[in-house]
Amino acid sequence: MRLLVTGGAGYVGSVTVEALVDAGHDVLVVDDLRTGHRAAVHPAARFVHADVADEHALRSALQAQPCDALLHFAAASLVGDSMRDPHRYFRDNVAATLALLRAVAAQGVERVVFSSTAALYGTPERTPIPETAALAPESVYGETKLQIERALLWLARTTGMASVALRYFNAAGASRERGEDHRPESHLIPLVLDVAMGERDAIDVFGDDYPTPDGTAVRDYVHVLDLADAHVRALAALEAGLAKAYNLGNGAGASVAQVVDTVRAVTGRDVPTRVAPRRVGDPPVLVADASLARRELGWSPQRPELADIVADAWRWRLANPTGYAA
Ligand SMILES: NC(=O)c1ccc[n+]([C@@H]2O[C@H](COP(=O)([O-])OP(=O)(O)OC[C@H]3O[C@@H](n4cnc5c(N)ncnc54)[C@H](O)[C@@H]3O)[C@@H](O)[C@H]2O)c1
Repeated sequence: MRLLVTGGAGYVGSVTVEALVDAGHDVLVVDDLRTGHRAAVHPAARFVHADVADEHALRSALQAQPCDALLHFAAASLVGDSMRDPHRYFRDNVAATLALLRAVAAQGVERVVFSSTAALYGTPERTPIPETAALAPESVYGETKLQIERALLWLARTTGMASVALRYFNAAGASRERGEDHRPESHLIPLVLDVAMGERDAIDVFGDDYPTPDGTAVRDYVHVLDLADAHVRALAALEAGLAKAYNLGNGAGASVAQVVDTVRAVTGRDVPTRVAPRRVGDPPVLVADASLARRELGWSPQRPELADIVADAWRWRLANPTGYAA
């Protein structure tokens, strides 16, 4: 297929482009590099430097290289940031995405894979969380993703647009060539690796009195290569008139303390920790029930072990100690 990938210079997008190219697809990446890196874009993909909200740029890109489907990764995705600057999140994640969907539909693109998030569930009533759990985001970020999922439902009903929303839990790890390089970084594993590298003195543990076995918060870390594979599968599963959503996680949580211990074991380095107060809106446990993706997409994570996820992230970090050059 000929694919338009927004955010293909970012972390999950760039690794997914690798998988899409390997699966034989033609890829056009649109990214304005606000958080991504030109060097992360696969050399086999065509690259257009543009804001996804720029309808004119999108139209010319699609006229030069028509596409059959859209994979939409581009978004602002920091929970705390979204609470401080809600207008920007509604503009960049909702208004820009609605404009993008209209622009691509006008060029005949009626199949969409959308990067959604576990943040849709807020504090869940039970875990593992199935897709049928209440959707009750506790951040503007989560709300913006929910609004787009709902728009996709209505577009399926009214225009026949086919979509799959993939609700990632915590993306982690790296491929051989591409890894996580956010500036500033907010994700736990790369932050703990910073400490192992000697670039930070200690890792802040936000809360050690949660109702979890060791008192620290539990999350579901999923290898970015497994996420990439789910996108390849989702594309094949798109059906006209249907909008579906799938959780993507391993179904096994790891606590902050377990992540720190795993980093110590994988790197052989010291990782001091510092207990800090809980952060508002941080649920004790977020673990996915991804059985629907397993059943309907045939998705089966190949790298579910935390030690393997951390080892891949560490290998990429050692090979790229200062991240991407550009
Ligand atoms: N990383 C995770 O753990 C995680 C978890 C759940 C959901 N997600 C979602 O997955 C997607 C990718 O996340 P990521 O961690 O790879 O983020 P990222 O910041 O690494 O990548 C986002 C990419 O989109 C680009 N971009 C953003 N806004 C743009 C715009 N208006 N126009 C053009 N390009 C734009 C950025 O330059 C960047 O290359 C996001 O939609 C995010 O909300 C990520």
